Amino acid sequence: MEKKNLNVIPEGFFWGGAVTSFQTEGAWNEDGKGPSIVDSRPVKEGQSDWKTAVDFYHRYKEDIALFKEMGFNAYRTSISWSRIFPDGEGEVNEKGLQFYDDLFDEMIANGIQPVITLYHFDLPLALAEKYNGFASRKVVDLFERYARTVFKRFGKKVKYWLTFNEQNLVLTSPQFWGVSLEGAENEEALRYQVTHNAFVAHAKAVKALHELVPGGQMAGMVTYQVTYPNTCKPEDTIAHIKAKELLVDFYFDVFANGEYPTYITKDLERKGIMPVFEEGDAKILKENTVDYLSISYYQSQTVSAEKADGKWLITGLTPNPNLKTNEWGWAIDPIGLRVCLKDMYARYRLPIFITENGIGVREELNENNTVEDDYRIEYLSEHIKQMKIAMEEGVDVIGYLTWGSTDLISSGGSFEKRYGFVFVNRGETDLRDLKRYKKKSFDWYKNVIEANGERLEYTESVSVK
Ligand code: BG6
Repeated sequence: MEKKNLNVIPEGFFWGGAVTSFQTEGAWNEDGKGPSIVDSRPVKEGQSDWKTAVDFYHRYKEDIALFKEMGFNAYRTSISWSRIFPDGEGEVNEKGLQFYDDLFDEMIANGIQPVITLYHFDLPLALAEKYNGFASRKVVDLFERYARTVFKRFGKKVKYWLTFNEQNLVLTSPQFWGVSLEGAENEEALRYQVTHNAFVAHAKAVKALHELVPGGQMAGMVTYQVTYPNTCKPEDTIAHIKAKELLVDFYFDVFANGEYPTYITKDLERKGIMPVFEEGDAKILKENTVDYLSISYYQSQTVSAEKADGKWLITGLTPNPNLKTNEWGWAIDPIGLRVCLKDMYARYRLPIFITENGIGVREELNENNTVEDDYRIEYLSEHIKQMKIAMEEGVDVIGYLTWGSTDLISSGGSFEKRYGFVFVNRGETDLRDLKRYKKKSFDWYKNVIEANGERLEYTESVSVK
């Protein structure tokens, strides 16, 4: 009789890690790359810039060999738009395309599927300076051109794509889309216009992928900040629903249903700040919904009606006294992951790819040239457990990628917050030798992947060198 596989995680599930180009590659001005908005960001006193990062650009073969050793079958990174179009709109830079060709070939040769984000907070600087980033429809068109260029070039190598990293940050942090709000007549209206432009750009990229890459799968992605009502007062539940609509639901509703939800349109009409829909926008959103949904998940918060003063877009967020936090105040809440997976699947019935989850910690090598990162093993295993329960309860999760694989630079610019299974020997400004060292979690994750998520505990016996 055939033996039944009772593991809730199916064969072919994606295991691996996730990063971005600007937080790992370095080589910020090599081989024709133009500057991005990240390269011009002010660097805080004593902190690292993004110029060298972990030098992945020159060391990717070494890193991919380590990922293969852990058993990764997927690795998420982003393409740097300004490597491909140095000023965002002129001639294509063949050397930039070649770098990603070589990188994806190396991954595939090692059994690792590239999962690729088109845009992760690093607009070509020229497009911010000339057009105010995604505040302009010109940049939407240029994004489509860039997307079509990389789909044509890499479509045979890359099946899983994401348009924008954490697209739900566009409303609150339009600077990541190259937009300055300075001088805006109505700041809130401009925020919504940028949000709309990003939706149109996203939908145009979905359309382009489906036209150019047979079987290509495109996600819409958000950072899922789970919220709970602060108390069981009904007012807190309403405040929580409202916060959740703006934090998360708005984006998934457009990605999956192809139209603005009424809780948004009614609000925008009331305020008289409905964004300009150009002819054809509604149609393009409607006809180009996503193939799967993707999230980063790190933390949760509560929402209190009393603290919601209505002055800001998303109001009333308060820390949860029942949860421990990491050193940066992010609440550690594995059950929150299950909460969001169940909610998303019930609402949209689309496959879900967890493309970021992890814990940042200050770490240094010990005398054995490793890091005993039991806290990371605990954090990740507790989250994977909750993912598995959600899957037992029927949620279709297709993969789990941790944030970081090697250490990398924080998106806010600092090297003291380490996320990887592999320690990179550098400090904030002292690049040391950038050598790679396995942390204790390296063997743990290897064991998890080998058993397809069935063994989550750490045992000495798995620590075979
Ligand atoms: C996500 C981003 O929000 O969180 C990453 O997609 C970022 O770019 C990650 O690095 C962790 O945040 P931080 O601030 O620790 O770098």
